[in-house]
Amino acid sequence: MKTYDFFTDYYDEIIRWNGYSLEDEIFLIDELIEKNSFWAIDILEVACGTGVVAKQLEKKWYNVIGLDISEKMLKKAEKIFSKEKLILWDMTNFDLEKEFDVVLCNNNSINHLLTLEDWEKFFDMAKLHLKKWWILIFDILTIFEFENISRDFRWFFNVWKDTICLEMFKKDNNIFQWLVKMFIYQNDKYLKNSYKLVEEQVSEISFEIDFIKEILEKHNFEIVKTEDYHKWIVDKNSERVYFVAKKI
Ligand SMILES: C[S@@+](CC[C@H](N)C(=O)[O-])C[C@H]1O[C@@H](n2cnc3c(N)ncnc32)[C@H](O)[C@@H]1O
Repeated sequence: MKTYDFFTDYYDEIIRWNGYSLEDEIFLIDELIEKNSFWAIDILEVACGTGVVAKQLEKKWYNVIGLDISEKMLKKAEKIFSKEKLILWDMTNFDLEKEFDVVLCNNNSINHLLTLEDWEKFFDMAKLHLKKWWILIFDILTIFEFENISRDFRWFFNVWKDTICLEMFKKDNNIFQWLVKMFIYQNDKYLKNSYKLVEEQVSEISFEIDFIKEILEKHNFEIVKTEDYHKWIVDKNSERVYFVAKKI
């Protein structure tokens, strides 16, 4: 399913704020790679979005290829990352005819695949594109986190002269839907000092951590580790969890 249209314009300004800095994320991903596949060079970043992670990883010593389903995200990525290394494709069904040292899927992108079947298709794609014994890294937002967000929060962000409001609603079967309201500032010869409201919905799903491990094992991955993004241990109150799994 295609996601992100207007929201792409605000994505980088909003998604990484206090507590979710890009630097922390890059540090963690680099550490997970270094500790679990020391000689890794070639990374395939699926669902690479605006390319900010690919760009930072490339600044280290990695060769990175980015893939995403959204043309608009990739257009934005092209501004900071080489166009030749960006591929428009669906992460549940692609074939680059190349194997990588690391397949990375960052920032709860896998949560955007709304059925278990699609998660499984993605694991198969990751396997197809990994060298044997090398690693898949992805992170999820947990059901616990989505329950919290949909119960307690409404976030407002001022970006340039526009205001963006993010809310989340619980749907059936652990599907949660972001409602993104963008109040876009208008000041031209027709509309003076007013706001146009544009709304967009983005849905996400999550599964229990142990269940995800089982599915990975079913697809011939060995679980190397799970790591909580915020705290020392992964438990029932984890909000964001990274998985490292080896192709066997
Ligand atoms: C939350 S963003 C994360 C972007 C990037 N990984 C980051 O760390 O900023 C989710 C991304 O997943 C992409 N996406 C959603 N479904 C996809 C699919 N089926 N195949 C490839 N990309 C997909 C969206 O276009 C979007 O760029």
